[in-house]
Amino acid sequence: MSNNDLAIVVLAAGKGTRLKSSLAKVLHRAGGRTLVEHIVRACESLKPRETVVVVGHQAEQVVAVVEPLGAVTVTQQPQHGTGHAMQVAKRALGRAKFAVVLPGDAPLVRTDTLKALIATHHNGNAAATILSAVLADPSGYGRVVRKSETAISAIVEESQLIDEQREINEINSAIYCFTLEKLWPALAQVKPNNKHRELYLTDAIAVLNSKGETVLAQVAEDAREVLGCNTRGDLAEVDRLFRERKRNSLMDDGVTIQLPETVLIDPEVTAGEDTVIEAAVQLLGKTKIGARCTIRTGSVLTDTVLGDDVTVEPHCVVAQSRLDDGVIIGPFARLRPDNHLKAGARIGNFVELKKSTIGEGTKAMHLSYLGDAKIGTKSNIGAGTITCNYDGFHKYPTSIGNKVFIGSDTALVAPVRVGDGAYVAAGSTITENVPSDGLGIARGRQVNKPGWAAKKRRELAAAEKPKKRSSKRKPRRTSKKRKR
Ligand code: UD1
Ligand code: MG
Repeated sequence: MSNNDLAIVVLAAGKGTRLKSSLAKVLHRAGGRTLVEHIVRACESLKPRETVVVVGHQAEQVVAVVEPLGAVTVTQQPQHGTGHAMQVAKRALGRAKFAVVLPGDAPLVRTDTLKALIATHHNGNAAATILSAVLADPSGYGRVVRKSETAISAIVEESQLIDEQREINEINSAIYCFTLEKLWPALAQVKPNNKHRELYLTDAIAVLNSKGETVLAQVAEDAREVLGCNTRGDLAEVDRLFRERKRNSLMDDGVTIQLPETVLIDPEVTAGEDTVIEAAVQLLGKTKIGARCTIRTGSVLTDTVLGDDVTVEPHCVVAQSRLDDGVIIGPFARLRPDNHLKAGARIGNFVELKKSTIGEGTKAMHLSYLGDAKIGTKSNIGAGTITCNYDGFHKYPTSIGNKVFIGSDTALVAPVRVGDGAYVAAGSTITENVPSDGLGIARGRQVNKPGWAAKKRRELAAAEKPKKRSSKRKPRRTSKKRKR
């Protein structure tokens, strides 16, 4: 079968009533992506002539997810069942001879499994080939009724099972390969004979069988691949499996993950060899981590790029930033978007950065806010340094040169520049530029008053004495009674 004969149809128009959600089922997320995105991506390397997604509920949002992936969409409105959805897709399938049909809510399926399904269909010259799975608990799924070792007579939905069929634990994944010229006439004969008055695609199987067509089922090697997401519990399980897959693939690539089941990693994240990821870390979005990095417990990194040998100490929150080789941050550092920390820079505890560049080897170790700041190399930013970058209307930049020493508790009122090699005295409120190699000092001058404290203590003690006597007299007053 050439790819030019093959179309993909993803049925994604349903609401997903069992999720009890205002969001359409296929837009729910598991493993860092919407369900429907996983499915469209899994089909990409089958290189079909067309990928058609049937949309209905919240069509606009579903279209926004799948069209950028190259899929075309058709609208099913209202939704009269999976068979009806397939009929709606018909006009978009062009000259395709075969279609792989998938539900929008079974996102774990792998490309290789789909390739094997297509091969079975082709080799068996079948009208339909069902991807089935054997489950310990088949409840909720349609069951595959076999008439021989290889051939299938029907799929029976759970609500329509007769007693002896309840024993069947081979389920329909709702992933199929169809020969389209056989499917269309069979589907035309399907009646909405169920309590929802829907046209079930599954009923086309019995029709094909009654016409003497070949229907095959291929049992998925790993039954977990076909899990559908009908409930929140299913979603959690599917998410767990995706996360496990991702962690395993990083571990295969030489990454150490401690207590792996506590670590959450999005699909596009990469990490280099000998990187160590501690428990309860989250690596999200397009985060890229180099080799020999350590991401310590409780840290959350989103869309962040790390060079090699970077250490993120516990409980750091980092978004959309770049940390070059050998950078160390945290514990408890917060990097809001758009920072660039150059090689060997160090950011310590309770330091917040936003849109700032920290030069090579520069340190800001304690309790600071650096926003819209450009800091050169080998500078030292003292504890409690604050860039006052916002006047309530606009943001202003702070520029600090190379080998600058900013004393503790400095407020830099932006826009302001501190030249190379300059010092800023601790406790200063800097409102004017500080020249290179100069000292900026902006605080009240200290006055020492010799003997002041001793004198003060004497005065206070003197004021205290009468009070003490009066407190001693108190019991005497109470003894007045005895005198009487
Ligand atoms: C379906 C199968 C069942 C199978 C199970 C596997 C049918 C009748 N049943 O049941 O045999 O074991 O999947 O997970 O097919 N959809 C539309 N338009 C509609 C109705 C549904 O596009 O009118 C889409 C849904 O958005 C969903 C998919 O089809 O993505 C499957 O529908 P769903 O309601 O989840 O079917 P199940 O009850 O899970
Ligand atoms: Mg389903």
